[in-house]
Amino acid sequence: MPPARPAVLVTRQVFPEVIDKLRRHFEVETNDDDAVWPRDVLLARLQGKAGALTTGTERIDAALLQACPGLKVVANLSVGYNNFDVEAMTRHGVQGTNAPDVLTETTADFGFALLMATARRVSESEHFLRAGRWHKWAVEMFLGAEVHGSTLGIFGMGRIGQGIARRGAHGFGMQVLYHNRSRLDAATEADCRASYVPKDELLRRADHLVLVLPYTPENHHSIGAAELALMQPTATLINIARGGIVDDAALAQALREGRLAAAGLDVFEGEPAVHPDLLEVPNVVLTPHIASATRGTRLAMAHLAADNLIACLTQGRALTPVNRL
Ligand code: DGY
Repeated sequence: MPPARPAVLVTRQVFPEVIDKLRRHFEVETNDDDAVWPRDVLLARLQGKAGALTTGTERIDAALLQACPGLKVVANLSVGYNNFDVEAMTRHGVQGTNAPDVLTETTADFGFALLMATARRVSESEHFLRAGRWHKWAVEMFLGAEVHGSTLGIFGMGRIGQGIARRGAHGFGMQVLYHNRSRLDAATEADCRASYVPKDELLRRADHLVLVLPYTPENHHSIGAAELALMQPTATLINIARGGIVDDAALAQALREGRLAAAGLDVFEGEPAVHPDLLEVPNVVLTPHIASATRGTRLAMAHLAADNLIACLTQGRALTPVNRL
């Protein structure tokens, strides 16, 4: 009898070609309804599985690892992995992997799209038109903020932040300022035409501030009431990073009181719930966490997650590990 093949769980619906690839190596259990499984269902389905292909929705923590002793690898279909308790995974000898690089340019495109839609009031004016309220062209109708030649601030200057910087500097003649845990090397700064500034200066000077930093408990509410108060009342704030980095209630209040011109948000604290105050203010563009959502990019992310499972369980090495065992 051939040795039993490892079993893996794919926690959400994923492209059939990626499932087929996994089936060539493993016994695969899928989630064809794309239900978000309650925790007890997830735990039950993980029993006997050596690997799991997850999304940012499933929390992989110490209690789950304790309850699933056979688990060897969890491959996230996302670059962010704040759903992983990395320390607990390392302690339990479970390899975590993410899906970096393949989404960089697509996500930077979206960051710029959201910036432009926010600055130029695309959603707000479309709602006005759809509501049948457009009766005449007017000189001062939906005046927005300039994008070209303005000051672009980037908070979090990893690969996606650098992609946004290049688009702003080279395509739109923007002055680019950034803040990051560590300063970039001189060659990368020159390529992005970006200057490093302290966080307070970034907040004060940016006409358009884009957040692209990873979520960690330390940067929970890094943009709260105090930070928003430093920003210009004409500025826009774009969050394509993670919910929880911005204090959404404080942001809604700043928008309502005209202390910030507009915001564009792709991620939310406690998503898919959205803070009700944000739904009430007109000067905010809201999208459902779609920054990496093109077919090509999501397929590449899914293939990378699958390749990580295959590499870990058949060759004992991860392609893009997030912890060292
Ligand atoms: C990522 O890859 O981290 C995106 O936000 C999708 O979760």
